[in-house]
Amino acid sequence: MKKDNRFVSMDINGKTYKFPFTSPTAGPNVIDIRNLYKEADVFTYDPGFTSTASCQSDITFIDGEKGILQYRGYSIEDLAEHSHFLEVCFLLLYGDLPTYDEMVRFEELVTMHTMVHEQLINFYRGFRRDAHPMAIITGVVGALSAFYHDSIDINDPQQREIACIRMIAKLPTITAMAHKYSIGQPYIYPSNDLDYSSNFLKMCFSVPAEKYESNEIISTAMDRIFMLHADHEQNASTSTVRLAGSSGANPFACIAAGIACLWGPAHGGANEACLMMLHEIGTPDKIPEYLKRAKDRNDPFRLMGFGHRVYKNFDPRAHVMKKSADAVLDLVDSKNKPILNVAKELERIALEDDYFRDRKLYPNVDFYSGIILNALGFPTSMFTPIFALSRTVGWISQWKEMIVDPTLKIGRPRQKYMGKVNLEYIPVEDRPK
Ligand code: SDX
Repeated sequence: MKKDNRFVSMDINGKTYKFPFTSPTAGPNVIDIRNLYKEADVFTYDPGFTSTASCQSDITFIDGEKGILQYRGYSIEDLAEHSHFLEVCFLLLYGDLPTYDEMVRFEELVTMHTMVHEQLINFYRGFRRDAHPMAIITGVVGALSAFYHDSIDINDPQQREIACIRMIAKLPTITAMAHKYSIGQPYIYPSNDLDYSSNFLKMCFSVPAEKYESNEIISTAMDRIFMLHADHEQNASTSTVRLAGSSGANPFACIAAGIACLWGPAHGGANEACLMMLHEIGTPDKIPEYLKRAKDRNDPFRLMGFGHRVYKNFDPRAHVMKKSADAVLDLVDSKNKPILNVAKELERIALEDDYFRDRKLYPNVDFYSGIILNALGFPTSMFTPIFALSRTVGWISQWKEMIVDPTLKIGRPRQKYMGKVNLEYIPVEDRPK
């Protein structure tokens, strides 16, 4: 395949076709093959979309080789150090950092939408108390599409705007209620005098019988975890939200689809699976046995929290999270120290092992996050709901970018069909006994 500055040529079935060859702001160049099937009557084949750009986006840039993650051009390291989650929400949603007045206005807007409709509370009672919180929030967020008829005309900018604000504002309340429901404690209403992360922690951990004091260290650690998980380019759950949204579906239903996809252990469910794995390993002397299993092709066991489709040197979020883990465990909880030591020893040994080095497998965002969340007092079942709460702003920002894109078409991949064709129907009485 030859390429000049503007086109690549493909010789297919004895004919030469030219396709535009374009350069993004950053990242790999792109061959625009949208007319390939129409012109050459062939499909590309890319299971898992490892080499496919599904869309054009200005929101998040990742460089897997260099371990770069930037939200609207700002590095995750800078944002984790200097910003806060609600400012990152503004950045992802509107494209740049807010002025002081814009931030005040945005915070007021989100704060005024943190409560949920009282009728929505009835949905929780339909679940068993031992339902996984991810099952609960998938159902309850989907149910929001039945509550807000003033924000479902996706072609009305005002209605799109209020749907985005409601999603960012209500996910902490809905997630905290799922936690309270699963432990049989009363729901705690949002407190408008608290910041976003402190409010979420209060809704999760305060009880009517006692005075609740916010802890700034814990709120800061929570806020940092929210920032690190906010968006991540076209990962599986974001692609799910985009595909659902491309049909014009209700935005709340699209976010519920994203939550369902995130739940899988290969994706957002890895943080819960990783902490359970670290507890199963228990002590550093057991690590070699588990590494052996992770390397055995016949053993389905994989190191949870390790590996990534895009990052092939390190996940910059894991670096920030590892630093945060040290700080948080020094301050709030020592019982997780042994588990943190197992995690660090596992990382050290794995990174010296050819199997992991050859396959460029490094700790990802989920490797340390569970240790911190556990130290903050959350049960493992709440790890992925917290990931979903954080990622909601990324999902809704990507959804909004897609809806206003004038080139928007319904997403409809094709396939490489390998089944039978043109069979003759045989009545059951004539079929072999
Ligand atoms: C997230 O996409 C995103 O951006 C996701 C995310 C986000 O913010 O949205 O970053 C969040 O989902 C992080 C990933 C969390 N998942 C896990 O930690 C689960 C464990 N990791 C693996 O399941 C895996 O690494 C994936 C799913 C993350 C990536 O899989 P790929 O890119 O499809 O890679 P692969 O499965 O083709 O693996 C390549 C090789 C294989 O070995 P060989 O066939 O070459 O012999 O690496 C091996 C795999 O067996 N491998 C692992 C491994 N991950 C890959 N072996 C042991 N342990 C692992 N964790």
